[in-house]
Parts: sequence; structure tokens; C-alpha cells
Amino acid sequence: MKKLTLSLLAVLFIFSLSTVFVSCGSEEDAEKTANDLTNQATEELDKKVEEVTEEVTEEVTEAVDYTAGKTVYASKCQVCHQENGEGMGETFPALKGKASDLKIVLNGAEGTAMAAFKDQLSDQEIVDVTNYVNHAWDNNFDNVTLEDVAAAK
Ligand code: HEC
Repeated sequence: MKKLTLSLLAVLFIFSLSTVFVSCGSEEDAEKTANDLTNQATEELDKKVEEVTEEVTEEVTEAVDYTAGKTVYASKCQVCHQENGEGMGETFPALKGKASDLKIVLNGAEGTAMAAFKDQLSDQEIVDVTNYVNHAWDNNFDNVTLEDVAAAK
């Protein structure tokens, strides 16, 4: 009840203020104020729309990136690690269930069938395939960047 009285008082106060304001200023001033307010609201709305668009674009780009990585995976990795990421017995390890080791992808594992891919794939393709592996088959590991690839070389 007290709250209601307070808000009623506040509304009354603002109303009387605006009456004073409008009666003091010319009609032109009032129109200018209204225009300013409209511009401000439009600007804020534009900013919000831009933010949301950016977010959505980022999400879509990520999805596209995984598609690019999936293509690399299918042509370069799948023979051994398999489409379902579960590998083949002892010979080819599963990639499902662990974050992809960039160093191994780049430099290979000596004495095994795992080749070094740093000269076979571009840095971008390494990023794409790693991010695909890190998000395929219920994997949910961090994305890597071109900087991570450069650092792991
Ligand atoms: C010719 C078969 C073959 C191909 C093709 C291949 N790998 Fe491998 N990969 C292996 C083997 C064998 C190992 C195990 C190496 C070891 O024992 O250290 C391995 C290990 C790995 C590991 C480390 C797994 C762990 O247990 O930590 C990753 C990550 C990996 N591979 C990713 C890839 C990616 C990405 C590609 C494609 C760009 C690829 N591999 C292509 C055979 C292959």
C-alpha cells in the first residue's frame, strides 16, 4: 500500500514537472524534446538489434566451421579414427571423449601410423578439424584458434 502511494506520488510529480516544462517552453521545444527522445530510443533499439545479429552470426559461423572441419575429418582422419570417433581397438585410438591434442595432430606420433598434419593441412584446416573433433560425438571441449596452432607447432 505504501509502495502504491509512493508510485502515485512519483507519477504525479513527473506529470506536474512535464506540465511546467511544456508550459514554459515553446511548442517547438517540446517537439525537439520529443524528437530527441525518439532518436535516442531508435539508437538504442538499433544497438540492440546489432548485438543480437552479431550473436546469431557468431553461432551460425561456428556451426559452419564445424562443417568445414567435418569435411577435413572425413578425408584425412576418418579411415583410422572412424566416422563415430571411436577408432579401432588398440590400433587406432578413439577421439571421442577427450580434447584433441593439437601437438599430435600437427607433429604426429613417431613410430605410429599417426602422421604429422602440419604440412598436409593449412593452419585453418587444423583449427577446423580440431574444433570439429572437440564438438563431435557428444564431445564438448574448448575451441582452438590459429594462435593455438602456431604455439603448438
Ligand atoms: C593412418 C591412420 C591415422 C590417420 C589417417 C589419422 N590418425 Fe590420428 N592417430 C593414429 C594413431 C595410430 C594414433 C595413436 C598414436 C600414439 O599411439 O601415440 C593417433 C592419435 C591421434 C590423436 C591423439 C589421441 C589421444 O589418445 O590423445 C589425435 C588427437 C589424432 N590422432 C587426431 C587425428 C586427426 C585430427 C587426424 C586427421 C587430420 C588423424 N588423427 C588422422 C592414426 C591415424
